[in-house]
Amino acid sequence: EAPFVVSAPGKVIMFGEHAVVYGKTAIAGSVDMRAYGLAAPRSDQQVRLVLPDIGVDVQLDATQLPRLAAGDLAHPGDVEALVGQRIGVPDGPGRTAVLAFAYLYGRLCAGSGAPGLSLCVRSLLPVGAGLGSSAAYSVVLAAALLQLGGQLQALGATAADRRLINEWAFQGEQVAHGTPSGIDNSVATYGGFLEYTRGRDPLPLPSTHALRVLITNTNVPKSTKALVAGVRALRDAHPAVVDHILDAIHGISATASALFQSPADGGALERQMSDIVRLNHALLSALGVSHPALERVRDITAARHMPSKLTGAGGGGCALTLVPAGAPAAAVAAELAAEGFCCYETVVGGPGVAI
Ligand code: MEV
Repeated sequence: EAPFVVSAPGKVIMFGEHAVVYGKTAIAGSVDMRAYGLAAPRSDQQVRLVLPDIGVDVQLDATQLPRLAAGDLAHPGDVEALVGQRIGVPDGPGRTAVLAFAYLYGRLCAGSGAPGLSLCVRSLLPVGAGLGSSAAYSVVLAAALLQLGGQLQALGATAADRRLINEWAFQGEQVAHGTPSGIDNSVATYGGFLEYTRGRDPLPLPSTHALRVLITNTNVPKSTKALVAGVRALRDAHPAVVDHILDAIHGISATASALFQSPADGGALERQMSDIVRLNHALLSALGVSHPALERVRDITAARHMPSKLTGAGGGGCALTLVPAGAPAAAVAAELAAEGFCCYETVVGGPGVAI
């Protein structure tokens, strides 16, 4: 069997962060930075996993890895107990990544024997920046293993293939993170834009648009947990005010969802997007989750008529800036870099998993 390449994109939250915790809708989109896996089937029942970006190079005897029976699959978090001693990788992102692999490989073996494999995954996504690098990795794993096991109909291209890849990738994410919402792996699988509301399946939007954006990492460390708790405290103290802010953010996501699905021309889309990006940031700022570094990014880009909002939890982390047609993105990126920020120019709304 010939080697093959699998890739999957990272994600950015476009609208609705924080409000999504209260049952409001959020919109996420794929970025054009991707994780890439090179998979080479082998005939010797050995499994080698190489992740150069996080210092992993392990070789495992496929016959020694557990075949996960259906009952084991109910608790992906228990994979540590099942294979933990066998993988010999110290605690950290590398170990998490190997555990996710071992879990999905075990699931594959339950249905397709123990096919040998060398898999090398590299990623252009920064780790820990809220851009869904771990979900992109999980989707690459899922797609590579399902393809290896002959369980996909058409190289991941059919709706059934995607559903299967997404389901497996979600389990990989559960091994890595415990209780992920599922939005990151869904974006990495389906690409484009996606609507997400807690307790419902993520809904891919039949979007016809892709957006140029600048993603700026302020490099200010944040605690998502503390920021979410801060919003909760504000809401407890002022429910009559904060509930309206959360509803307004929901309205922004609803507007965005309609815009992404509309056949509006580029110019009109950009103008309306600019408005809701500005509004969403202002509302998040009112919730107390901005940061001076994020305001600095907003000021620098606003001076060039490029609106920005924080993306993700806020309190530092990343900002997202719309780049309207003809805007001086390179000059702005240079200005931001000169202030010590890391800037990525990307297109949001591109393709999902590809084999
Ligand atoms: C963090 O990326 C997004 C938040 O809405 C938290 C959450 O949804 O769990 C701030």
